Amino acid sequence: MRNNNIVLIGFMGVGKGTIARALIQKTKRFGVDTDDLIESMENEKIKTIFEEKGEPYFRKLEKKTAKWLTCNVQNCIISTGGGFYKVPKIKKIGTIIYLKSSFDGILNRIKSCENAEQKLAKRPLFQDEQRAIKLFKERAPLYQKKADFVIDVENKSIKQIVNEIIKLDI
Ligand code: S3P
Repeated sequence: MRNNNIVLIGFMGVGKGTIARALIQKTKRFGVDTDDLIESMENEKIKTIFEEKGEPYFRKLEKKTAKWLTCNVQNCIISTGGGFYKVPKIKKIGTIIYLKSSFDGILNRIKSCENAEQKLAKRPLFQDEQRAIKLFKERAPLYQKKADFVIDVENKSIKQIVNEIIKLDI
């Protein structure tokens, strides 16, 4: 059974959090973010979890979070970390929307932010651009595979993207 949630997946920096917040305002749904849940569960920043406990430990926390969401959360907009798409049975959490952009589109989006440096610094897997491109290429078809809907976000305003998602009538 699905929980009537909307789950936003996609690569780091594509705007999952920003779009989730705009959707929450427009739809009056509540919202949760998987990275925020993990940070509060561990009382640590994601960056520190990666540094001190390693990526496999973080991935375990993502799986634990997915189980918790499946059992406890309904009618929410859920923004996720870029690797969350890999958790087992993700579709049980809700309808999966893949926010799609080219790698250059993502880079331009991050670099045009006032706090671009901070945005990059908090993302351990975005420290080396070549490594990030490789990860992007590996993941792009996998996001697509997991998605119930794909929304192309490149060169669109937040308002346009939100309207497109609302029109899906999930
Ligand atoms: C990750 C993406 C991050 C965060 C962690 C790992 C990934 O979230 O969950 O650093 O594997 O792509 P954002 O997508 O919000 O950057």
